Amino acid sequence: MNKIARRTFVGSVLATSAATLLAPRSTRAAESRIEILVNEPVGTISPDIYSHFVEHLGGVVYDGLWVGEKSKIPNYNGIRKSLVDNLKKLKPGVIRYPGGCFADQYDWRDGVGPRDKRPTRVNFWADTKYKTTKAYEEMEGGPQKYESNHFGTDEFVSFCKMVGAQPYLAANVRSRDVRVFLEWLEYCNAPANLTTWSTERAKNGFAAPHNVSFWGIGNESWGCGGDFTPEEYATEFRKFTAWLPTYGVPLKLIGSGPNGGDLNWTRKAFEGLALKGSRQIAKLYGWGLHYYCGSTGQQVANEYTENEWYDLLERANRMESLIESHWQVMGEYDRERRVKLAVDEWGAWHKQDPDMPPAYLYAYAGTLRDALISAINLDTFQRHAEKVIMANPAQLVNTIHSLFHTYEDRFLMTPNYHVFEMYGAHAGATSLRTEFVAPKVGFTRLDAQRKEVPNSFWGLNGSASLKGKQLVVTVVNPHAKETREADIAIRGASIRSGESRTLTANDIHARNSFANPNALEPKNATVAATGTNLTYTFAPASVTRLTFALS
Ligand code: AHR
Repeated sequence: MNKIARRTFVGSVLATSAATLLAPRSTRAAESRIEILVNEPVGTISPDIYSHFVEHLGGVVYDGLWVGEKSKIPNYNGIRKSLVDNLKKLKPGVIRYPGGCFADQYDWRDGVGPRDKRPTRVNFWADTKYKTTKAYEEMEGGPQKYESNHFGTDEFVSFCKMVGAQPYLAANVRSRDVRVFLEWLEYCNAPANLTTWSTERAKNGFAAPHNVSFWGIGNESWGCGGDFTPEEYATEFRKFTAWLPTYGVPLKLIGSGPNGGDLNWTRKAFEGLALKGSRQIAKLYGWGLHYYCGSTGQQVANEYTENEWYDLLERANRMESLIESHWQVMGEYDRERRVKLAVDEWGAWHKQDPDMPPAYLYAYAGTLRDALISAINLDTFQRHAEKVIMANPAQLVNTIHSLFHTYEDRFLMTPNYHVFEMYGAHAGATSLRTEFVAPKVGFTRLDAQRKEVPNSFWGLNGSASLKGKQLVVTVVNPHAKETREADIAIRGASIRSGESRTLTANDIHARNSFANPNALEPKNATVAATGTNLTYTFAPASVTRLTFALS
């Protein structure tokens, strides 16, 4: 190991604008350690783990994304300009559409052609089993009931092009047959004027094929997508994929994977596929895992105690064991490891902001707690770069774990957006084995009888990656009040210079609102580091990105 150059950077951090936000509430001794093993690569971090999801649900499409060409809200061909401009900066991987549960009710043919001729249908979310709480029953109006189909395949693909993302379409397995799927494929990918559907596409103004590579075979087929057993789903998958014309476009198929820890779904579905030979498993590009860590207490996004802060972070952290356990089961059937995980729905799911109209189902702007949940998830995907090929928080705008929040001409970026901006630096880099050692944080959780049960959570965690001479380390300090000083050792390389970017606030409930859209934003600072070791003090309740130039 090179000579150790030990520095303490508390001073330099506190001297910056980032630090002006932080009144350090107390400091633990440097009992924490981060060891970055530059010569131990884990795998390439797929740029598609910074992907997104858009469903016809509540205010996601109508208002969030689609405002219409005649709207006073600035737009590009009907698509909200502020959303496009800001999403583009994140270099999104793929965008999943049209659902979610909506996908297995959708007929893509309703959403193409002249807008005034498109049929109106009942939206899946008009009468939902998810709408079970008293608060929803009491809401006047309720979720959006009708689907105008004004936004469909062509508008969606145009949106993807505007932001530089790949489209990912989910086929309807529950209520439409294979033929409808094949015709969608043909409409999207067949060369112009070669077939009836590609002629139709050209007539609709899109002569060049959409070239859609990513196709989901159903969504949550264990639930809203058909209530199938895993064995039945395997049969459906084989049937839907038995013959697929490629039109020269490499197809990347994503199977409807498990709900959280349902290992039986993964096992039985893979077993069902293998009944017709391992080729059936090899058809899969990704196996979709869905995990929502839920909410706590009052369930409104910005109401929680300190214990509930930790409670939800700990639940978010379960993503790690889900990835590991499903990966192990998949490996029993896919020995060559051709199939990776696509975590195409994840996030925290709170109750709707009561200030938003009822039609904006599950819309809220999120808080610093949600930002830490984003960071915990992205760090997990980055640490498991060899297993996770894609990940999509649910959803992009105006629902659940969103990056944007809109209401008519009002628009803001949520704390989740800022984490995506910070973490995008890892895209395409090589994930490095990194060890975090820190004292655990204690908290209590209410059990079913509402009795407080002692619990604990890690004190520091994150991930590291290398791209050329740039080393990026992202770290979460979950402690609600205390800074965390850590010795960082870089094994196998030496630092020339460094900088930090930190998202935090004095109040763990901090968030952005329409009145104050920039209240919570990351701040930069210089880290005057050289050599192989440094000491860094992580702010309380923070997400930090350290970027080092290696010599
Ligand atoms: O993201 C909201 C819903 O959650 C999706 O439609 C469904 O797939 C999941 O249950």
